[in-house]
Amino acid sequence: MSELRIWRVGIVGCGIGRDHIARGYGKHPDKFRVQAVCDIDEHRLAAVADEFAVPRRTRSFDELLRMDDIDIVDICTPAAFHFEQILAALSAGKEVVGEKPLVRSLAEIDRVIAAEKEAAGRVMPIFQYRFGDGVQKAKRIIGLGTAGKPYLATVETAWTRTSKYYETPWRGRWDTERGGVLLIHAIHSHDLLTWLLGSVAKVFAHTATRVNPIEVEDCAVASLVMRSGALASLAATLGSHREISRLRLCFEHVTFESSLAPYSPGDDPWEIVPASPEAEQRIAEGLADYCPLPSRYEGQFGAYHEALTTRAPLPVTLADARTSLELITALYQSAATGVPVTLPIEPDHPGYAGWPRVASGHSERMRIR
Ligand SMILES: NC(=O)c1ccc[n+]([C@@H]2O[C@H](COP(=O)([O-])OP(=O)(O)OC[C@H]3O[C@@H](n4cnc5c(N)ncnc54)[C@H](O)[C@@H]3O)[C@@H](O)[C@H]2O)c1
Repeated sequence: MSELRIWRVGIVGCGIGRDHIARGYGKHPDKFRVQAVCDIDEHRLAAVADEFAVPRRTRSFDELLRMDDIDIVDICTPAAFHFEQILAALSAGKEVVGEKPLVRSLAEIDRVIAAEKEAAGRVMPIFQYRFGDGVQKAKRIIGLGTAGKPYLATVETAWTRTSKYYETPWRGRWDTERGGVLLIHAIHSHDLLTWLLGSVAKVFAHTATRVNPIEVEDCAVASLVMRSGALASLAATLGSHREISRLRLCFEHVTFESSLAPYSPGDDPWEIVPASPEAEQRIAEGLADYCPLPSRYEGQFGAYHEALTTRAPLPVTLADARTSLELITALYQSAATGVPVTLPIEPDHPGYAGWPRVASGHSERMRIR
């Protein structure tokens, strides 16, 4: 049994930061205490601090970093601020939690990885959709070798975003967001895909802006060749009138089908379809001691506490965020150039320092003459 220590948290950014309290830290009062919140917006700051009776509030991120009684700085600002804030929090000796997309290029993530090596604290990126019993069971069955050879996967992210969503000034703009449905929304399901199916070898992507008049894409399709030889297809839109997320993964001995819950595709029920009675038996044996876990932020923060306290590997690592950013870089590079992109993306690749802007409109139309 590890010693139960209460870790003290300071959160910057009171949008999704509120959910980190309500659905994450607040579910673990014996493990975390939110000691301070920070936001440049006075009203949001007051609303969240009052709602959760947070003892301290500040509009200054530097002041948050100077608080000696804060162990963890949780960064929930828009992505344009993440890189500088993560580096500053590591320099201040803090543990760091960072919302997705963690940073905005492979060059930036490599600098964060280098900084973490020199720092006392570590960085845990948020990928809360991994914390659901359906996807956890699939991960276990695949990890045990029971599923066998991967054949093919399909991943759909069909969500809805209307003009109201884009009233927030930083959303939908290239300079502040650097991407649309691939970077901001489908990032979760695509993380689940690579977590379950391994590395990507090659991608070909099309993007289009068809739903809202924004500067970044809101529809995308891509075909992937995985390093294992398996194939995958991705489809993502923000113009679906019924919201779903869906993963379907076909292996030699098992087919996995996620639920359709748009914002918790990792949760049960997942259909786990065996190819034979023998496979069914091996699945049952593999899951015999499976203990259900809390879902999403509650699950990720529970696992985080354990890793902090025992110094075990973090439940989500910078390597995971790097994998996600590498796939995103390849997808945008392919959509912008109209040619397939092979991975890994090395430092001399044109997309390494930042993926290219895909012109607003239709990448497809631009190339079909
Ligand atoms: N994991 C998820 O499911 C999930 C869901 C929503 C958002 N996010 C991510 O969380 C991040 C924030 O998104 P959001 O929807 O909460 O945005 P938001 O605009 O609703 O909230 C961001 C908050 O940060 C504050 N802020 C901005 N710059 C600041 C600074 N320099 N110092 C202090 N406060 C500052 C703003 O005033 C605002 O209150 C984004 O990276 C987004 O992609 C993740």
